[in-house]
Amino acid sequence: MLSERARNITPSATTSLTAIVQDLKAQGVPVIGLNVGEPDFDTPAHIVAAANKALAEGKTKYAKDSGIQPLREAISKKLKNDNGLNYTADQIVVTTGAKQAVYEALQVLVDKGDEVIIPTPCWVSYTEMVKLADGVPVFVKTQPGTFQLDVAAIEAALTEKTKALILTSPNNPTGAVYTEEALRALGKLAVEHDFYVISDEVYEKLLYNGKKHMSIATLSPEVYEHTITINGFSKAYSMTGWRLGYLAAPLEIAKAAGRLQGHMTSNATTFVQWAAISALEGPQEDLEIMRKEFDRRRIWLQDALSKIPGISCAGADGAFYLMPNVSAYYGKTAPDGSVIRDSGDFCNYILKTAHVAIVPGKAFESPEEVRISYSNSMENIQEAVRRIAEALTKLK
Ligand SMILES: Cc1ncc(COP(=O)(O)O)c(C=O)c1O
Repeated sequence: MLSERARNITPSATTSLTAIVQDLKAQGVPVIGLNVGEPDFDTPAHIVAAANKALAEGKTKYAKDSGIQPLREAISKKLKNDNGLNYTADQIVVTTGAKQAVYEALQVLVDKGDEVIIPTPCWVSYTEMVKLADGVPVFVKTQPGTFQLDVAAIEAALTEKTKALILTSPNNPTGAVYTEEALRALGKLAVEHDFYVISDEVYEKLLYNGKKHMSIATLSPEVYEHTITINGFSKAYSMTGWRLGYLAAPLEIAKAAGRLQGHMTSNATTFVQWAAISALEGPQEDLEIMRKEFDRRRIWLQDALSKIPGISCAGADGAFYLMPNVSAYYGKTAPDGSVIRDSGDFCNYILKTAHVAIVPGKAFESPEEVRISYSNSMENIQEAVRRIAEALTKLK
């Protein structure tokens, strides 16, 4: 019999969908995947070259659990220069993806029964990670139409047991970038009520409409003491498969995360860490090319989705996702007689009829919406929208 913990894990809706799409493609079905959470760009060549060099130099052995010193120093410099944050190399733990950093932050902070506030819509893994730490996820909706943080609702959800809040700006799945005003109000709450903010900043470089990224830990020394800043290489440098991220935190928390990691994975892959120095310190042109292309697709897609009858689509200032509301189609009947009852049925219908993969909002605690990723070519995005619009005309 599996442990209760194992039995309680809900499989990731996004990775399960990726497997279905791969199977369909293998059967020759011309599926367009707008479900993906990774950039459709190659890792920049200078980073690949740095990895090859590290391999050739034999950087293939175990390293310090918390990461190689030159990378932790490069991250410390990056956090200072890009974000105005002061973390010494000792306060940084290099992890196997930002995902592991979030996991470790929760494991070292949360005791049985502690509550962790998760603004929704939210990334699929947070809920399961809180449960795996024996914590209790507490969902607080963001504001309808804008997906901005509802700080008053967060305040109302605080209890004696609130231990942390997970902040994701720019956001997956909504693309929202939280206002400075909201971050200030949240920071004030964290200090007054003594809870931690786990600030997942993996999409920080993918910003549009002139938005600037703000790390909540810069707001004051008190907020800094209540923040774990998390980032990674997957989204900014198109390094999803390399599995590299990091957390930066007050020393006691960073040390605890390092100890935990020492018994889990030990160090993140050594030669990948050497290559990551090149990502941070090498040319950044590829990032800007990618950001501009995402921006072009975002503008086109939001406009095109908004023109489909019954769909309303909030704007987004970051990441590479849009989250249109499709609930006007709930209750409608497909040509085969099946009824669209929720976002899962909606996405299944679109996959079956239009051969386009998108993710049901219910996976993100957002039942009225679906998540559409524009990390695919403009040509495919345009064809996908054409097919979706056509499939929707068949619902009665
Ligand atoms: C909000 C958010 N955090 C973390 C991650 C995981 O990043 P990594 O590949 O660095 O583990 C993702 C990936 O989809 C994400 O969307």
